Formats: sequence, structure tokens, C-alpha cells
Amino acid sequence: MNRTLGVCYYPEHWPEAQWADDAARMAKLGLSHVRIGEFAWSRLEPKRGAYDFDWLRRAIDTLHAAGLKVVLGTPTATPPKWLVDEMPDMLPVGADGAVRKFGSRRHYDFSHDGYLEECKRITLTLAKAFGEHPGVTVWQTDNEYDCHNTTLSYSPAARVGFQAWLQQKYQSPDSLNRAWGNVFWSMEITEFGEIELPNLTVTEANPAHVMDFRRYASDMVVRFNKAQADIIRAHSPGRDVIHNFMGRTLAFDHFAVGADLDISSWDSYPLGFLEDRSDQGDAWKQQFARAGDPDFQAFHHDLYRATSKGRWWVMEQQPGPVNWAPHNPAPRDGMVRLWSWEAFAHGAETVSYFRWRQAPFAQEQMHAGLLAPDSIEAEGFFEAAQVAKELASLETELEANPGRADVAIVFDYASAWAWEIQPQGREFDYFRLVFDFYRSLRKLGLSVDFVPASAPELEGYPLVLIPGLFTWTPGMVDAIRTYDGQVLIGPRSGSKTDDFAIPESLPPALPANILGVRIARVETLRADTPVQLTKGGTFQFWREFLETGQGTETILTAEDGVPALVKQGNVHYLGGWPDQDLLKDILLRLTNEAGLTTKELNDGVRLRRHGKHVFAFNYSAASFDLALLGWAGTPLLGKLVLEPSGVSVVPLPDAGY
Ligand code: GAL
Repeated sequence: MNRTLGVCYYPEHWPEAQWADDAARMAKLGLSHVRIGEFAWSRLEPKRGAYDFDWLRRAIDTLHAAGLKVVLGTPTATPPKWLVDEMPDMLPVGADGAVRKFGSRRHYDFSHDGYLEECKRITLTLAKAFGEHPGVTVWQTDNEYDCHNTTLSYSPAARVGFQAWLQQKYQSPDSLNRAWGNVFWSMEITEFGEIELPNLTVTEANPAHVMDFRRYASDMVVRFNKAQADIIRAHSPGRDVIHNFMGRTLAFDHFAVGADLDISSWDSYPLGFLEDRSDQGDAWKQQFARAGDPDFQAFHHDLYRATSKGRWWVMEQQPGPVNWAPHNPAPRDGMVRLWSWEAFAHGAETVSYFRWRQAPFAQEQMHAGLLAPDSIEAEGFFEAAQVAKELASLETELEANPGRADVAIVFDYASAWAWEIQPQGREFDYFRLVFDFYRSLRKLGLSVDFVPASAPELEGYPLVLIPGLFTWTPGMVDAIRTYDGQVLIGPRSGSKTDDFAIPESLPPALPANILGVRIARVETLRADTPVQLTKGGTFQFWREFLETGQGTETILTAEDGVPALVKQGNVHYLGGWPDQDLLKDILLRLTNEAGLTTKELNDGVRLRRHGKHVFAFNYSAASFDLALLGWAGTPLLGKLVLEPSGVSVVPLPDAGY
């Protein structure tokens, strides 16, 4: 594999006279890919049908002439004013019933058939014009689905679309009434046209109703993306189709969108995310303010790698301070380089920086680029240059792919929707739960793969975790039955049917020969009222009252005598949300049974296995001697004493594996 660097560029923001110089500097810096075009609709079609593609052709020609490969974006995240004025009902509607207006971006409704047709038209016209251009090697569909919370829209178009979707799914109003339990509170309907969207109700809407709306909304994103991907494939043979996902965004099923992509990518803003999207307290945020959370990026690298069968990029990498978080510090020296290498360690093909030059105008004028607005190199530029050099020297040493990880976590977007709809306790958040498990594994030096619940291939993993899974998808129970490694299920896994009801046999609803456990009661807890376990550790936020059958062995018990962790053969069930220390102890027990090598790491040092090598990363502000972990020899990159922001790589035996 040829690992490459790239950058996001907006030729329409700069005088044409500057393009050739920009392209030459990009190539000299060691970049290979340039993403352009994704917000340029008003310049590509200033009036309906009056296409102006000449400037884009000249821009692509200029980049191509400099030896750069173009990632061309479809401009559908920013419909122009004339189009919105032609069909104002394409605008999205918030849960508060208010229309979200023109004047920024992503002002469209995924359900709107008219807008979908417009997107197909502009995609087709662009694909015909540039599909065979030798400089265009990849197409990006739209930009960041769900950015600014745009998956859910409560528009008239969504209502009509949802009704048709439900009719297709349930066939008759009676079967819908039964599935949703509409006899409760007299919610029964007699025809599909009566169904409302689940917003602006007096108190909470029926969870089954909301769940179907979430599924419908996700399907609309899939439909939207597929429409573009199909057109691009038909007119741009041999090019890859990519989309750029976001951090901690669960509103649509990324596995389903990924099925229509050749490559997944995501936009990695470590400092913005720490401020904006972390559940950690202030001490943690302070500690990592200039480094980013040591596990957040890694989590998404691993998750998105799974959404498109292994091929993935970072499409936008933070190069300096951003503009959109509550506070926007500058990265510590070396962190832009570290983030780039962490992505490659997890198997990225390309890391592309956002953006080439800081824009002096409009919404993102305070967002850094590789260049300052006056075109002088900014800090990120020099770190990108260093990565480019290091990549060239390591290319032949590193394997093409990271290979199978130590542990698999089963991941499921529907579970995120379910627990958002019915948290039962304020802190019960699916991402937070899975992330806790992920972080604990990483703190033990383990590498992780995610596996979709919709296609659970567990073979070959010594250990599999299944936290918080809403319902047993078809195939999941069989996968557990035939799996012979160690498996940890729970909390809350298998606790609902697909119709959002409590299963007849009560959770976790597994056949007794897999796991003879019955959970008739759960409770949720304030953070200051945890449940103590007899051997130390606590359950926080969520706890279940397990009743066990004959074949199960109780491993841990709460102080009130209720089993906390039980085991039947290789299947373990965890009846609560463990604190970090307890989770570590449980995972150490399981990794031990699974025969995995662990390394206990401090808060800021992380490892990632890549083929026959191990990477080490230092997110903390203090040096760390890797000899303490048993590392020896001379690293291919970096040193055994890992400086703050340091990166080191050694072959597996030198890292003690
Ligand atoms: C991303 C987006 C970019 C830019 C960037 C700023 O979410 O895709 O267009 O807005 O954030 O950090």
C-alpha cells in the first residue's frame, strides 16, 4: 500500500493566478491528494441549467499538472439560493417545528424527493464532465452527513415518506398497532395517513414509533448517498467513491452507508472533540487540552475501518486551532504529526489536512490551515512535511494492513438510537458505554476491531465484547453459539425485541443452553450512589438484578448478594456499568482466559499493533520510557524514551509480543 497525505482546497476562494503556485507548494510538501468542490454549487450552476464548469476544469488541470490527484466532492451539502427559492419545502424542519433556513449549509431534507432529483442531476452533470478526467481519482459524496444534526427532519416531506415506509414495513394498520403497542394511551390508528411524526407531543412519544422514525431517517441517508454513488460509478469508471463521516455521530447507520462506498473516511478534530464531545470531567480535559483524548480518534479509526471492509482515510485532519468548540487551543508541538501517525497505525490509506490556507472571510475565518491567510506556512505545515518524509522512509518497512486486532467489539447504530429514546437513567448513552469498554482495552495495550451486529463475524478473535446491544439481530445468537473464544455480554444487551418491547422470556433473552440468566428488574443510579461489589469496584449509572440457572457460575457479586458477573462456558454476562477500575479487572480476567498479552498503560501512552509492528504514542506532557513496557532494540521511528507528542515503532518482538 502507498500511504499518502492530502489537503482540502477551495480554488473558488482564491484568485486563479494563485492556483499554480499553491499546487506546486502542495506537491513540494509531499502531498498527493487534494479534495475540492464540495461546497461550490453556486459557482458551478449560478442559475438553473447555466453550468459554469470551466473554472473547475482549469483548477483540476492545474492540480493534475502538478502531479496531484483530485478528490472531487459533489456540492450537495450547499444547495444554492435559487434552488431553495424554487422549492422552499426542501428545507429541513427542526424537532421544534421551525424551518431551518438558507444561510449556512446542510439546509436540505433527506426525505425530499425533489431535492434528491436535483442532487442526482448535478451529480450526473459533474460525473459526465469530469468522470474520465485523468486527474480525478476519487469522488466524495456530499459532505459530512448529519453535521449540524441534519439527519432528522420533521417536515411534511418526511411525514409522507415515513408513512409510506411504515406501510411497506407493516402492510396493515393493525399490525403496526400491535407492533408498537398502540392500545396504550389510545394511540391506535386506522390508516397509515394518520401517522404523525414523533415530535411536539405533549409528553414522550411511543418509543417504538420514535425507533421506526430513526430507522426511516437513517434509510433516507442511505438512499441519498446511494443515488450519488450509483451515478458516479456509471460515469467515472475505476474511481473510488468516498464519504467523510464525523466524530461521535450516530444518527444514521454508517455500516449501511459504507456498504455503498469504496472507501470510508472521517474528519478528525482531536482538540475540538475533547472540548465538545467528551464525557470526561474538567481534569481530563485540562490534561489533554493540547493533545486531544488519547482514545477518541483511535475509536473512530477502528470503527470506520469496519464500515467499508477495511479501506479508509482521514479526510480532514485538524492542523491547528479550530473555530467551533467552546475553547480552541493550539495543538502542542508534534501533535499534528502524532495524530497523522496514529491514523496510519490504524490502517489509514490517506490523511488529508483541513485546510490548505486559512480563509480570511466568512464563518471559518478563525480556523487554521496549513498556511496562514497571507500564505506563510503555519505550524501544521511543518509537521505535515515531517510526516511526508517519515512516510517515505517507512513505506517499505510497514505492512499493507494492520491485520486482525486482539479484541472485537460488536457495534450497532440502532442500539444508540434505542438508548437515546429510552435512557432510563440520564447517563445511559450507548457511545459512552462502548467508549468506556474501548478505552479500557486500549489502556491494556490491546488493539480493537469493530464488528457490525448486522453481520457478526467473530471467528478468530480471542475475545469479543457485546455491550448495550438493543436486540439480538438475526445471526447474532448463532454467532455466539458457534464462537469458541471468550465473550462478554451486557449490560443491557438483548433487553428488547425489534419492536421495542421487553422480550417474552425477559432479558437477556438468550437460549438457556447459551446463557441461563433472567433479568426481571433493573435500576438506574445517580453518579453519587453506586452499587458496591464485594471484592471491590462499583456499578455506576445502571445495574441489573440477575437470576441465574444451574449451568451458570457467579464470578462477582454485589454487596446485596445479587450476582454482578456470571459465566456459562465461554459466555460471560455483566449486570451493570462498571467503573474504570472494575472494568479493567474484569477485562484482565477475560484477556487472561483468552490468552492475550496485555500491557498496563498510564493515561497518556497508547499502543497500536500494525501487522508485525507496534506503534507507541505519547499524548501526555511527560516523557515515558518504553523499556518499562519491555520494549527493546532500536525503533524504526522515534526512540525508546517517548517524548511528549512522541511516536515510536518497533517490530513485535522488540515490543515484547
Ligand atoms: C468539518 C467540515 C468542514 C469544516 C470543518 C471545520 O466538519 O466538513 O467543511 O467546516 O469541519 O473544522
